Amino acid sequence: MNKNYIVPNEWSIIEDGFDNENVEASESLFSIGNGAMGQRANFEEDYSGSTFQGSYIGGIYYPDKTRVGWWKNGYPEYFAKVLNAPNWIGIHIEINGIKFDLHTCKVSNFKRELNMKEGWLSRSFAAELTSGEQIQVKTKRFISVEFNETGVIEYHIKALNFSGEITYSPYVDAGIMNEDTNYDEFFWEILEIVEGENSGCILSKTLKTEFHVSTAMQVSLAINNSEINVPQKTTIEDKKLTYSYKLNVNEGDTATIYKYGSYTSSLNYNIEELNSASLSNVQNAKELGFKQLLDSQKKSWEAIWKTADIVIEGDIKAQQGIRFNIFQLNQTYMGTDSRLNIGPKGFTGEKYGGSTYWDTEAYCIPFYMATKDATVAKNLLLYRYNHLGKAIENAQKLGFKNGAALYPMVTMNGEECHNEWEITFEEIHRNGAMVYGIYNYVNYTQDFDYVVKNGLEVMIAIARFWHQRANFSEAKGQYVILGVTGPNEYENNVNNNYYTNYLAKWCIEYAVECINKVKHNYVSDFDRIMDKTNLSIQEMYQWLKISDNMYFPFDEEKQVFLQQDGFLDKELIPVDKLDKSQRPINQKWSWDRILRSCYIKQADVLQGMFLFEDRFSKEELARHFDFYEPLTVHESSLSPCVHSILAASIDRMPKAYEQYVRTSRLDLDDYNHEVHEGCHITSMAGTWMSVVQGFGGMRVWEDGILSFNPQIPEEWKSYSFTINFRGSTIKVYKSQTECKFLNESGKDVKMFVNNKEVKIPANQLVTI
Ligand code: BGC
Repeated sequence: MNKNYIVPNEWSIIEDGFDNENVEASESLFSIGNGAMGQRANFEEDYSGSTFQGSYIGGIYYPDKTRVGWWKNGYPEYFAKVLNAPNWIGIHIEINGIKFDLHTCKVSNFKRELNMKEGWLSRSFAAELTSGEQIQVKTKRFISVEFNETGVIEYHIKALNFSGEITYSPYVDAGIMNEDTNYDEFFWEILEIVEGENSGCILSKTLKTEFHVSTAMQVSLAINNSEINVPQKTTIEDKKLTYSYKLNVNEGDTATIYKYGSYTSSLNYNIEELNSASLSNVQNAKELGFKQLLDSQKKSWEAIWKTADIVIEGDIKAQQGIRFNIFQLNQTYMGTDSRLNIGPKGFTGEKYGGSTYWDTEAYCIPFYMATKDATVAKNLLLYRYNHLGKAIENAQKLGFKNGAALYPMVTMNGEECHNEWEITFEEIHRNGAMVYGIYNYVNYTQDFDYVVKNGLEVMIAIARFWHQRANFSEAKGQYVILGVTGPNEYENNVNNNYYTNYLAKWCIEYAVECINKVKHNYVSDFDRIMDKTNLSIQEMYQWLKISDNMYFPFDEEKQVFLQQDGFLDKELIPVDKLDKSQRPINQKWSWDRILRSCYIKQADVLQGMFLFEDRFSKEELARHFDFYEPLTVHESSLSPCVHSILAASIDRMPKAYEQYVRTSRLDLDDYNHEVHEGCHITSMAGTWMSVVQGFGGMRVWEDGILSFNPQIPEEWKSYSFTINFRGSTIKVYKSQTECKFLNESGKDVKMFVNNKEVKIPANQLVTI
């Protein structure tokens, strides 16, 4: 059973009614963030039921020693973990001396809302304590986009049936453990606790990586909206700073606390400035006040939605789903800092360690490229460029030479880090995604300078890797790539994975194409790059021998490329013949059974066809789709979106829609039964692609030409989206009867619509 308790709404995620069972799932779904930091939607007050406390700061991680049974050469030393950071949101609350805890109260009229339009989280409910006091609670909290080190909470309690004392005890707790640790260790050291009047902070540093973080709070209090001064009692424990304020209320009064919080970190400051910076952040926030901060928050989100929004009419759940995806992507990564990247769970959980995966290049770049300024996607590429040295070291550790690079499957700082040898380590296909990301960016933006300045060095190092990783098979008379895991992680250590071989061949060809272009058009850069990389034309010819003669497993009878050598030896029983009780197979079956089964976790051959669609005929795509999709269990969040897009491009709209619903509401309806661990952030970019590339049919073909082929699911009245394309803003609208393009920029845009060339003049609306 999916969870399915979120109330459909166009702009908000809403939970109506309180259920202890949903607390952890809601903590994930209602998460808030601003690209620099984020947190799960934990309650501010104490909660004695099951909860997963989580606050995270982008780029602050710990190298947790790898845990494996039998160490082998080449294992990564550590698995980097984004650190669960000090908690600044906490407020212990007592009503007439009794602890307020939703787990032990009678709760009514509970409503929680994540307002995606304006970027805030709120709760309202009535509660009756075991001692009989009844209160009405209203809270609102957000993490500021404009002041990106600051967050704020407004917390009101109205005394419904009593006069007495409400005690607010706001705190900063630096004694937070990660949920996900290999050896149950505490990753922080507390250096200093600074107390003051209504404000204070804790300076702590991470063990090993020595990131320093100052976490500050500042509070102000009010009765019936008039600010009051209340004597403060300070308690300093080992790792925690707490201030207590007793407020006397009469029946009907509302007691309010405003709590401002801030993180500053040594990523951005000298260590000795951290405390004063965090304290000054909360002081400034308090001076601006809750209302003004909220106004700024609304403006920031309005600006984000202007280019990012997708409007769907006639299907409220689809509308809510797509906005949720777009909202979470923006909360995770804003693109202003090339040291940061997009963890598969963003700031909503700890699975995948908050590290960077191939997801960024294979899934996320198109979203950021089309909804933000080109510098954002470029920052994502620069992140990898800056890790090139480490990628070369990674390859050296495995025995590669001559500047060959193997980018990590999982990383924080360019080094490979994970706990899984067989699966993750052998997924060398990720090297292909690094180059695909560059290709995609350059093709979309036409910013070839990026290749000249940065990208080509990456491509050369990766071409060298493929050259050394492939070997000539005397038996086949062709080059083969052995011992890999493809995108389908339900097969490990296979030979000649079609996707991997395809990407390897393409990477070499694209590198050579770019080298030739630089040679002819950027002569001095060419000399610089050849010198820096020590590359000779002869070496390039060696690479081409491989790409020209790469082996791809193919079945003549079925006319399909095989996922890997021997795939047809498997017993091919379609997924719909599997009993529902066996799904998801990764939770029900042994690994042995999964590996020998024919079931595919996520697009693999189809992933390659998705990336290089214009190299395959529609008929070829359909044939491969019909062979592989029925064997696919979609147990990776990255799977449904690719299938939705391919289904739309072979005119299978019902299938495209079915897969779209699954990708867009994967977390909201908890399809994979794991939303309590966090949301699937990277696949959300795939959801965006399902609308824009899937239904909208947007492509930028290999020749750099923009084209659309809009279709609409029967279930929708209309949809519209906006893209930034080479400095122009184009709005696409499609209904059951009409298709319109609005060019909001000052220059004409040429494109293909339904395979016919059209010009959309500057500032004009054209109906097709
Ligand atoms: C997928 C990988 C992906 C990772 C992080 C896994 O379940 O199979 O392709 O990179 O999740 O999203």
